[in-house]
Amino acid sequence: MIQLIRGVRDILPEEVGLWQKIEKTATSLFENFGFCEIRLPVIEFTELFARSIGQDTDIVEKEMYTFLNKKDELITLRPEATASVVRAYIQHRLYAVDPVQKFYTIGPMFRKERPQKGRYRQFYQINAEMIGVDSPLADAQLIFMLVELFNRLSVSDISIHLNSLGCPECRPGFKKTLQKFISNTTAKLCSDCDRRKDKNPLRVLDCKVFACREAMKDAPSITEHLCNECSEHFEAVKIALNDLNIIFEIDKRLVRGLDYYTRTTFEVQTGSLGAQSAVAGGGRYDKLIESLGGPSQPAIGFAIGFDRLAEIISSNSVEVSCKPDLFIAALGEKAKNMALKWSCDLSLSGIKTETDFSDKGLKGQMKKADRIAAAYVLILGDNELGEGSAILRNMTTKEQISVPVDGIVENIRLRFAENQKVL
Ligand code: HAM
Repeated sequence: MIQLIRGVRDILPEEVGLWQKIEKTATSLFENFGFCEIRLPVIEFTELFARSIGQDTDIVEKEMYTFLNKKDELITLRPEATASVVRAYIQHRLYAVDPVQKFYTIGPMFRKERPQKGRYRQFYQINAEMIGVDSPLADAQLIFMLVELFNRLSVSDISIHLNSLGCPECRPGFKKTLQKFISNTTAKLCSDCDRRKDKNPLRVLDCKVFACREAMKDAPSITEHLCNECSEHFEAVKIALNDLNIIFEIDKRLVRGLDYYTRTTFEVQTGSLGAQSAVAGGGRYDKLIESLGGPSQPAIGFAIGFDRLAEIISSNSVEVSCKPDLFIAALGEKAKNMALKWSCDLSLSGIKTETDFSDKGLKGQMKKADRIAAAYVLILGDNELGEGSAILRNMTTKEQISVPVDGIVENIRLRFAENQKVL
């Protein structure tokens, strides 16, 4: 019987529901942030990847599926999507109308890596790329959107790792400092690091081999060697992330495996996947578009490992469903207006909130809450409004309590966030 090729897999009908759910959640969220879908081919000229990802990277050195076509041209199955997005932006002059363009794209990528759980030779990515904006606020907004996707999918075991890789002004100086540090260390590096320490010493920083990690424990940090502009940019990203309540950690080892990055880089890591801890990664690539022959436009983006994300969700057996966490039954004009504001705020904070703006009475609204299997209902009528409180009802136990209207969003958010019994 003919079997699957090593490193590729089937996504069977029983898993597809989850994949569709993830895709739907991502696309609707991205579109709300102004991203438009772009669909790109899986084959490109090899040169596109060699020039963008970088000749000395693992991907280009040893992981690409490359073949000669009949015209003796080198063709490669795409190992990632950013290069193709940039090629399309340049080739179709998408910058002519407006240099600011925001794309998302979902599809298979191909890398000849050693297969293991969470690492495949054909894997899928969900990409978002924002071209033409250099503000650090854009970096924060993009990371906010990425985190929001994980929230909406109820994936909580994640941490956001953040670093800056500087720019062509300041990175060469840091490379030299790092090379010096490496040449002074007496520790023995793995063969890969030994080979790349001269050309690409930054990669030694994120080597997973224990001996290399130990050797680099006290290595200098790039964030202390940034030029003024890069340093200011990095500080502004951190402030904006704090303002958006995004929890992140600075990770001086985060250098990423692609050469096009400048300034902000980030990864979403999880404890749920064993060795393959990165479930998404991205960063700025302010020089890439120009280096591929396009206009000088900055850009930033990320890619989520679709297979890994699906694995986390199914292993957590988190049910991804459309069932709301909370249904707000509001009666009367004033209550409905309050329900609108509350439902927007609560939805944004990751609590699936549903409201009914029709003129149904309480009975009708409770019936609806039952039908859509809402876990909790918040009841706000004229009586409750007069008393300055609303009723929160557990639809399973039928228990209910009174919650003050004052500070109600925060009150409910905390009850859900603490992952305890909401009531
Ligand atoms: P990357 O870090 O190479 O970045 O890949 C992004 C994500 O794809 C990883 O975090 C991981 O979840 C998933 N991934 C990578 N390789 C595999 C594999 N062999 N099997 C399963 N999943 C995998 C990029 O590709 C950049 N283009 C991201 C980007 C977009 N930067 C700016 N814009």
